[in-house]
Amino acid sequence: MAASVRIAVLKERADGESRVSATPETVKKFIALGAVVAVETGAGADASISDEAYREAGAEVGALDPVVKDADIVFGVQGPEPALLAGAKPGVLLAAVLDPFGQRPRIDAYAAAGIEALAMEFMPRITRAQSMDVLSSQSNLAGYKAVIAAADTYGRAFPMMMTAAGTITAARCFVMGVGVAGLQAIATARRLGAQVSATDVRSATREQIQSLGAKPIFVESVAGIEGEGAGGYATEMSEEYQKAQAELVSSHIAKQDIVITTALIPGRAAPRLISDAQIASMKPGSVIFDLAVAQGGNVEGSVADQVVERHGVKIMGYSNTPAHLAADASALFSRNLYNFLSAFWDKEQGRPILDEEIGDAVRLTKDGKVVNQRLSG
Ligand code: NAI
Repeated sequence: MAASVRIAVLKERADGESRVSATPETVKKFIALGAVVAVETGAGADASISDEAYREAGAEVGALDPVVKDADIVFGVQGPEPALLAGAKPGVLLAAVLDPFGQRPRIDAYAAAGIEALAMEFMPRITRAQSMDVLSSQSNLAGYKAVIAAADTYGRAFPMMMTAAGTITAARCFVMGVGVAGLQAIATARRLGAQVSATDVRSATREQIQSLGAKPIFVESVAGIEGEGAGGYATEMSEEYQKAQAELVSSHIAKQDIVITTALIPGRAAPRLISDAQIASMKPGSVIFDLAVAQGGNVEGSVADQVVERHGVKIMGYSNTPAHLAADASALFSRNLYNFLSAFWDKEQGRPILDEEIGDAVRLTKDGKVVNQRLSG
């Protein structure tokens, strides 16, 4: 029988990163597959998971060097500095969110160090990979948290309330960008009792908006993106579309109390959806939560991790929204990693052997080279 694969779970080192890439539940599951799991001391502390809980699940818990020593596989939430993996086996698999476009020098360093780096955010959007998709699991929680944070900052209530002292009207909430985060934002705002409307450039979202009981607000004069868009993603829109969208948003936004923006285009800066002039047209006390703030922002003037007041409107957004729900975000992230590797677990070799479709999509580096198509040229 092959020697057991050794999986190392790192403590996150990025500022504000409270998540962890394995939980006691997934530790047990990997051990059941025949792996040995080692967790760095304190790795789960910010996600409410104690070292003791990992030990009880069967993991070794210790300092970085002994944990990483001779590791075959290393897990992270965000990409670690390559030097942290120095003691691992040659060709070690690294699975984490690696920000390939933003952190290109680090990706080159992984290649130089002989690491086989797997970028979890490059998971293809195909049905069988849904349970492995960290972008979905984390965006869903982010969409929820954006509404909760906006509701907390808003000086009024969301639901209509009829009280002896008079009636409070329901808040109007507008969600811009209806992907995974946007859909959860719509559902959350509806649950809180707001009147919700939403927009996207992909025509497939219209029905999804309606099925959640919200009102679709769409550019009608210029064609948007048919259906789901390529791979489920949006592309940059024409100038003509952007102008029509700006006019539509201007007339709608002035009547809104809460705006949640979630629009992203993979590999590019987030599209600008709300200008300062449009903010000026909103009612004082309104709140805008910019979920794209870390990718350049959908809203003019938004600053990560600050509440900026412009024209009486509060503009906010977090640099790392899922980290504000560390326990749930870690649980789902960890399951994504487990679902991914266990789907490819080769019983005889006792290790994952990735197939072409998913392996080639997520693999950034191998045998000293950058091998991912999306990073070539
Ligand atoms: P995303 O995070 O890349 O973008 C968020 C949303 O912003 C998207 O709906 C996009 O169309 C929209 N957007 C971009 N530019 C815009 C603009 N200028 N104005 C308004 N909206 C704009 O997208 P996300 O959340 O990752 O999901 C996109 C799609 O992929 C969804 O339809 C989802 O169902 C699908 N998906 C499929 C998966 C699978 O089959 N394994 C997994 C995850 C998502």
